[in-house]
Amino acid sequence: MSRDPIFIAWDAAFADASLAIRQQRYAQALAVLRPLIGDAARKAKQWPPYRHALAGYALALYRHGEVNEALLQQSRLLLLAPNDAEARGNLLLLLQTEAIEFPDSAEFRRVLHGVLGQTELSDYAVPACRALLADAAFRQALQRLRGDDAEVVTALRKGRLRPLLQAPLLQLLLRNTLIPQPDFELALRRLRKALLMHYTADPHRPPQTGKADWDFIAALAQYQWLTEYAYAEDPEESQRLAALALQLQAGRDRPAEPAWQAALTYFALYRSGLDLADSRSLFCQSSVSWKPHLQALVREWQACLRERTLAATVERLTDIADPVSEQVRRQYEEHPFPRWRQDPQARQVQSAGQWLRGLAPDLALSADFDGDIAVLTAGCGTGLEPISLTRQIRIGRYLALDLSRASLSYALRMAGELGLRDRIDFKQADLTRLDGYPERFDLITASGVLHHLAEPLHGWRILCNLLKPGGVMLVSLYSEAARRPVAAARQLIAANGWQAEPDRMRQLRQAILAGDYPELAPLLQWRDFYNLGMFRDLVFHPCEHRYTLPQIAAQLRQLNLRFIAMRGLPPALNALYHADYPHDPNGSDLANWASFEARHPNAFRSMYGLLLQKPPP
Ligand SMILES: C[S@@+](CC[C@H](N)C(=O)[O-])C[C@H]1O[C@@H](n2cnc3c(N)ncnc32)[C@H](O)[C@@H]1O
Repeated sequence: MSRDPIFIAWDAAFADASLAIRQQRYAQALAVLRPLIGDAARKAKQWPPYRHALAGYALALYRHGEVNEALLQQSRLLLLAPNDAEARGNLLLLLQTEAIEFPDSAEFRRVLHGVLGQTELSDYAVPACRALLADAAFRQALQRLRGDDAEVVTALRKGRLRPLLQAPLLQLLLRNTLIPQPDFELALRRLRKALLMHYTADPHRPPQTGKADWDFIAALAQYQWLTEYAYAEDPEESQRLAALALQLQAGRDRPAEPAWQAALTYFALYRSGLDLADSRSLFCQSSVSWKPHLQALVREWQACLRERTLAATVERLTDIADPVSEQVRRQYEEHPFPRWRQDPQARQVQSAGQWLRGLAPDLALSADFDGDIAVLTAGCGTGLEPISLTRQIRIGRYLALDLSRASLSYALRMAGELGLRDRIDFKQADLTRLDGYPERFDLITASGVLHHLAEPLHGWRILCNLLKPGGVMLVSLYSEAARRPVAAARQLIAANGWQAEPDRMRQLRQAILAGDYPELAPLLQWRDFYNLGMFRDLVFHPCEHRYTLPQIAAQLRQLNLRFIAMRGLPPALNALYHADYPHDPNGSDLANWASFEARHPNAFRSMYGLLLQKPPP
């Protein structure tokens, strides 16, 4: 059977366009593809290359700077091929393009929901919020939350908030990631109060709640758990909540009853279920069948209870005698940091040598780095770094230390769930007590740790002594320039004698959100602001040192460590550096980085990531 001549013409046009794309002649490619895609859409099923042509069209649009149209075409492609990994990756790339405008299209949001549902969301929460705000009905519902309490309750009762309550993308965010958007927090806080007021208006006759609303309320409750209950509450809310807690306590022996689980769902908007008396038997009782909307939240609480059991099994390597270490330990016992969730899967396991040369191509390494190396992570927190490294590189021995048992039990639980329990030796220790420790390591990491010691240089020297000659050290330290607003907040806190108590911290957050401290407004751009433990880490830490790059250079000389490269910088900033310093392609000159930082003072907001080496023997 002969082919339709139009398909033959399209094949030829597509071949021309593909050549133009390969040769980076995007305007020419678009001149061919624009009419082709328009015509071929109607016969997409009969002309198999259509999908590829659409992918080429989206790519050419992107490269040609037509990002909004590229976004539309990319999402159209994903409607045809939802599992196309490359198309998903390209859509994610487009989401992070600053100037992008999101279409007000339910179809687009559905595609976005599908893609984000399979992605680690933390980098995409802000664009996802912008996509939600492109929806006129969503915007209007959000607007209604600016009214006073009574107006918000009325809007809720009359179903006027439905576009917000029933937005699947918002629920996806709420269940999975912090949303670093002040406007969203202000709105969600009001909505939370309205939900509580509505539910508790008549304790004898709670209102009917539809399934869709339960899903939203439970998602908002899960979000509060994720933020570690960071939102402030007013006295009226506290009062209603106390009554709700009593009601739950009274019905404590009938947790399977729908009315009890309904009350628990509302309670969870403000407090963890673990705050209820005898929570272990409550949530570990296998006989209780939890309503579907509550199940994810109950699983979080159950995981936390497992960690408490694991805490008793953590072995101690050193004592913790230093008063600063003890204060720091207490903070991280109360707020293990960070509460990460996504499995840091690696594409492949490679040798440490390959991995390190990927970070610094000119790094001279001994043959040991081609085999199974010995790694120490000092201050491993909740285990994210050891677990990611174990996933990525070949390691024979991994010792991961921290002061905090709660953090270590989080790490143990995650390592267990990911099948890595035997691969990492998690121990409780104060790194400043490791002098005289006999083992030596090829790689030592300490991320966000040394600047919390009373005497960072002393601790750093101890780690240097544990490093083999020619060994590599990855150290991350706070930047003085990037943390100016943090320093201002710390000053305010010290001047007022505020302690790191949950209500105090919530009040300060709320005051910053309300604009009471304009000089602290830049903190709203830090993701850490949106979780209570991370906020504590950000501005209430008992001990914090900050550095300039010349100070770091001086300390490296004292420690006899060589600076090899800077890591962890966002790609856009890295590109700026390389454009500015073409003669330093590996970024191995600290003086250049210092002048770069003078021009980009926020560049190291997520710390200086130093790749260092001890001179070979
Ligand atoms: C900000 S957290 C960083 C955790 C982890 N390195 C990360 O990047 O996810 C700092 C961690 O350092 C730990 N730490 C602080 N001082 C320490 C010390 N003297 N010895 C061992 N760990 C310490 C704390 O307990 C805390 O878990």
